[in-house]
Amino acid sequence: MSSKILVTGGLGYIGSHTSVELIQQGFEIIIVDDLSNSNTDVLEGINKITGITPKFVNLDLRNKSDVNRLFENHQDLNGIIHFAASKAVGESVERPLDYYENNLSCLIYLLQAIENKGQEFSFIFSSSCTVYGQADELPITEQEPIKKAQSPYGNTKQIGEEILFDNTRSNELLKVISLRYFNPIGGHPSIKIGELPKGKPQNLVPFITQTAAGLHEIINVFGDDYPTRDGTCVRDYIHVVDLAKAHVVGLKRMMADEQIENFEVFNLGTGKGNTVLEVIKAFEKVSGVSLNYKIVDRRVGDIVAAFADTTKANKTLGWEAKSDLEEALKTAWEWEKKIRNIKPNISL
Ligand code: NAD
Ligand code: WQD
Repeated sequence: MSSKILVTGGLGYIGSHTSVELIQQGFEIIIVDDLSNSNTDVLEGINKITGITPKFVNLDLRNKSDVNRLFENHQDLNGIIHFAASKAVGESVERPLDYYENNLSCLIYLLQAIENKGQEFSFIFSSSCTVYGQADELPITEQEPIKKAQSPYGNTKQIGEEILFDNTRSNELLKVISLRYFNPIGGHPSIKIGELPKGKPQNLVPFITQTAAGLHEIINVFGDDYPTRDGTCVRDYIHVVDLAKAHVVGLKRMMADEQIENFEVFNLGTGKGNTVLEVIKAFEKVSGVSLNYKIVDRRVGDIVAAFADTTKANKTLGWEAKSDLEEALKTAWEWEKKIRNIKPNISL
């Protein structure tokens, strides 16, 4: 299959892991990233895993003329995986306009450039389980109603999906798969790439690994009075490499004209929910490090429980998550140790 794929945000956490999978599956890729939440060392990591350094363009996708020039310079592009976005939920509440501008203007400029090409084009969108809010039914299927977004960030994912759906109706050459990720964790088993949060992490797993590495004294567990098996919130933690592989499968589906509709949505999770305390215990088991944690008040905006019904992705894409929580946590810990220069002691 001769395919040239644009990977926006390809130096970021999920984008870098997906770039590796794409290269390993024979795709030619161009990474576009403005380095607002990443750095170019990631290119070296990708090279160490695949033997190939992908073409990289340092570009802010909020600049419409740069986006158009990119498409003029690469007329043979026939697909895109659009990761580039701002993703911090709390920050989006403080700076909503920045989030609407970044997450929506980039999407619109890319879609305009694609429409101007007047050719078939495959588009994968990074969506999120956050579009469901607190679902009425668990596990969560793709039929679950979309609730009013809890944050401007969440709203950009809902609106992004609507923009894409509307565009598939007006542009019959456009094919879209929107992937709703649950909670991605871990890093590449080679330990050449991984998650690099800027500042103090808001997400649980990087906070755990940083605490184990000595960067924080204690983990705050946000609430233990939820109606769950141990009182802490339940999430579906999926290994980032499993997540990355689903993008390749989705791209191939569109390119082989296998879609039932031009706009399709898939949940990507393991199908299994774990509580915060279970994650902490699983980490202690695989790392041998004892963690300091305390129960504090609930975090505003947290939902009680979310985990995916992955039947649609399993049956339609033939994809399923292979790694379990412990395997994913091992890679997260090995990566943290590597970037903190702590001696490795786990064989992956
Ligand atoms: P990330 O921040 O690591 O990667 C995003 C990349 O996009 C970064 O490298 C950043 O520099 C780049 N970028 C941002 N704005 C840009 C712009 N205007 N122009 C060019 N590049 C730009 O984030 P991630 O965790 O890899 O997430 C990737 C996508 O998946 C995002 O759309 C995010 O909303 C979505 N998502 C992430 C999670 C998660 O928990 N990590 C969950 C669900 C959905
Ligand atoms: C997981 C659990 C916390 C940190 C977020 C976004 C969502 C999606 C994925 C992009 C929760 C608890 C956390 C800590 C804790 N991203 N926790 N102490 O909130 O499920 O989802 O990332 O689309 O949109 O909202 O993930 O990792 O922040 O939290 O107790 O220091 O861990 O309360 O129950 P979340 P998370």
